[in-house]
Amino acid sequence: MANWWKESVVYQIYPRSFKDSNGDGIGDLQGIISKLDYLKALGIDVLWLSPIYDSPNDDNGYDIRNYQAIMQEFGTMADFDELLQQAHHRGIKLVLDLVVNHTSDEHVWFAESRKSKNNPYRDYYIWGDGKTDGKPPNNWGSVFSGSAWKYDDATRQYYLHMFSQKQPDLNWENPKVRNEIYNMMVWWLDKGIDGFRMDVINMISKEQSFQDGETYGGLYGNPSPYIINGPRVHEFLKEMNQRVLSKYDVMTVGETPAATTEDAQRYTGENEHELNMVFQFEHMGLEAAGGSKWTDRRFRLTDLKQVFTKWQKGLEGRGWNSLYWNNHDQPRVVSRFGNDKKYWAQSAKMLATCLHMQQGTPYIYQGEELGMTNTVFHSIDDCRDIEAINAYHEMTTQQGVSPQEMLCYINRISRDNARTPMQWDSSAFAGFSTAEPWIAVNENYKRINAAAQVEVEGSVFSYYQKLIQLRHQYPIIVYASFDLLLPESEELFVFTRTRGEQQLLTICSFAEQNVEYHLPQRFADDEKQLLIANYPCEPCTEKITLRPYEARVYLHK
Ligand code: GLC
Ligand code: CA
Repeated sequence: MANWWKESVVYQIYPRSFKDSNGDGIGDLQGIISKLDYLKALGIDVLWLSPIYDSPNDDNGYDIRNYQAIMQEFGTMADFDELLQQAHHRGIKLVLDLVVNHTSDEHVWFAESRKSKNNPYRDYYIWGDGKTDGKPPNNWGSVFSGSAWKYDDATRQYYLHMFSQKQPDLNWENPKVRNEIYNMMVWWLDKGIDGFRMDVINMISKEQSFQDGETYGGLYGNPSPYIINGPRVHEFLKEMNQRVLSKYDVMTVGETPAATTEDAQRYTGENEHELNMVFQFEHMGLEAAGGSKWTDRRFRLTDLKQVFTKWQKGLEGRGWNSLYWNNHDQPRVVSRFGNDKKYWAQSAKMLATCLHMQQGTPYIYQGEELGMTNTVFHSIDDCRDIEAINAYHEMTTQQGVSPQEMLCYINRISRDNARTPMQWDSSAFAGFSTAEPWIAVNENYKRINAAAQVEVEGSVFSYYQKLIQLRHQYPIIVYASFDLLLPESEELFVFTRTRGEQQLLTICSFAEQNVEYHLPQRFADDEKQLLIANYPCEPCTEKITLRPYEARVYLHK
């Protein structure tokens, strides 16, 4: 089936936090194998694993030392082969993370590259001379704070790192680098994996003038115009597709921060021969202030609807959307867009409905199907993520933000919220491990865990199961076109999906009080069928009253 990835639901695993099999407090491949039946029961089609490769873990595996070896803490290549075989045996496909914008500074290519200016690997990375005053080649800031350049003593030049100092950027201008990467991809594909999620793939082509970015009064310049959707990115992806991807029946999803719908049409258009879909970030950036995620702003529903609608309409017939609320870089959706206290289950289910009824391929991040929430970081010592730790130090020492204020932002938005251990049951350490985990378990694990929800009617887990089943059962959910109703409402998110004679109506309330709603004419009769709802519903005709965070989906034939 050529379009299997359009009809699939993907589940993302962050291996470090999913399940520990050997009592060292760190999740691993055998842990994943032991939970495949759980994933099969949920009903997902595809697993995406965050990086499992050999890495010194400066950025939890997104800094790769060896692309063709497994991280020791996660197991061995034999464990991986077993996982692949066991997943396939259950009809589950397996997609790996492809991190090729950068490597670890401990990768052998970089170890060679830094040795001398005429080393054969020198041009695998991006090196530049400092300015005459000793400053870096330009003013670009790194995503993880500080300058994007690091001085290296051996050759007295700087290397570029858009992320941490231990993540030097690869030089995609060099055809040898591209060859190495394509060969490595072929090696994994020949093992039988089913595709790649491509890390910050729209950052691989850098504008070669390396000029200063705008500072907006801040310490560092903004590199985005020179590195995001850069001049040769489409050429590189077409080459990758032609040389590698086109030879396999696999799925690809590119992580593309700051991509517009026009960019996404080029990345995912069927005739472009680049990628199947991308992760866009607009709905994840709605609370950001002046480009910074470190704020306590809350989103507005009208903005959220506008962004989703733009993407639904923008890619309709011209590409393909991915649908996500959560991943390993985002706080938990029920804490962010719902109410994780008073309306915890209702809002978790409503948010799931809102996303899963749109056009595109849905992604579920581990624990989302249980309604896992943000955690509490009592101090910066509770955090593990290099992004938050660096930002905390930079903002509290150089930008006049108080430690309390910064901690409040970290509690709201930091990536570690997604990385606390998966909550399997109410035993010690949430059944994730028999030892103290590498990052603390969320205190609410006794109440929110898989054992309390699997095979329990009315649970968040069984609601996700049902949403997945519906998608498999009704092609209208996969393929129909999208139209927003009530764009001005700050309480209701209502949309239709239309395919031929069939129409689907999704009604989601983001309000914490009752809201009245008049059904569109066509649905104001007895012909409609209620597909799913997060409260018990009476048959209704013209008018309904939606309870806090209520969600309903009606089908009309
Ligand atoms: C992507 C990953 C993130 C990582 C960064 C650098 O954004 O999702 O986790 O830190 O790239 O690899
Ligand atoms: Ca382990």
